[in-house]
Amino acid sequence: MSTTGIVYRPRRLRATPGMRRLAQETRLHPADLILPLFVKEGLLEPQPIASMPGQVQHTEESLGKAVAQAAEAGLGGVMLFGIPERRDATGTQGDAEDGILQRAIRIARQAVERADGGPAPVVMADTCLDEFTDHGHCGVVTTDGRVDNDATLDRYARMAVAQARAGAEVVSPSGMMDGQVAMIREALDEAGFEDTAILAYSAKYASAFYGPFRDAVDSQLQGDRRTYQMDPGNAREGLREADLDLAEGADFVMVKPAGSYLDVLRAVADRSDVPVAAYQVSGEYAMIEAAAANGWIDRRAAALESVTSIRRAGADLVLTYYALDIAAWLA
Ligand code: PBG
Repeated sequence: MSTTGIVYRPRRLRATPGMRRLAQETRLHPADLILPLFVKEGLLEPQPIASMPGQVQHTEESLGKAVAQAAEAGLGGVMLFGIPERRDATGTQGDAEDGILQRAIRIARQAVERADGGPAPVVMADTCLDEFTDHGHCGVVTTDGRVDNDATLDRYARMAVAQARAGAEVVSPSGMMDGQVAMIREALDEAGFEDTAILAYSAKYASAFYGPFRDAVDSQLQGDRRTYQMDPGNAREGLREADLDLAEGADFVMVKPAGSYLDVLRAVADRSDVPVAAYQVSGEYAMIEAAAANGWIDRRAAALESVTSIRRAGADLVLTYYALDIAAWLA
């Protein structure tokens, strides 16, 4: 008989490091992390991104080294973004055979091979036009200034095939055009790339947290993306977007950003029968970096806690700029 009347004491399982480890429900592992990488055409030296301390725009050479590091760290994948020298209205460099992103994919495929013969990180590419258009929108813009859904689909299909041909194992449509997954699946299959997977940015919100990314890719965008990316207040619509992408043949679905959308992530995870990814975006990274630089929070603890929370909310995979740091901290 308890003298205090307290029967249940959850603190028992928190008493020692060993007990806490045993009782831990969510663990991080490098294989669940995907590192986003930027490569810029014509760059002579890696260029630091001011709003993303520790992240750079890579040269083709430094990209190869970063990918090799990701492989040695045992990361699950790398997500490649290209910044071309020349931009135009329809983003023709996006599907040019020697376009910067296609070159980056070929470099990455070489660099992921591990000396110890272990599994290579999966090479993924962003399948979107915003880095390649002179207006910075994710699609083709009509004369009256609208982003034309159906005209854009054909551009995405060509990009996806060019990426697959260069060796991308996963193409990642992030432009939020309706029907993009079905269109890309059909184009890949027709071109003989039945085994190239599609990671769909399914519930992608029109978010202020992409701010630093726009620096990272030298974005030209005026205005916003609210006619194609989702309203931050909408959760139900995010589920519908995920359902549509699943029906269209997505191999992975994603919620983005992650930290402010953990409810959406949980709901998508509860109904998805394919792996669910979440993207801890540039602004989420920048906030932790800025606070840590001021001594206001513990950088390592905050990074680990934020990514653990994203996994706990239902993400099987996390795209995070902390992927290499976390792998090192776990080692
Ligand atoms: C679109 C794309 C964006 C990001 C990933 N893919 C930018 C946008 O939609 O404006 C943002 C990623 C980040 O902020 O880290 N190609």
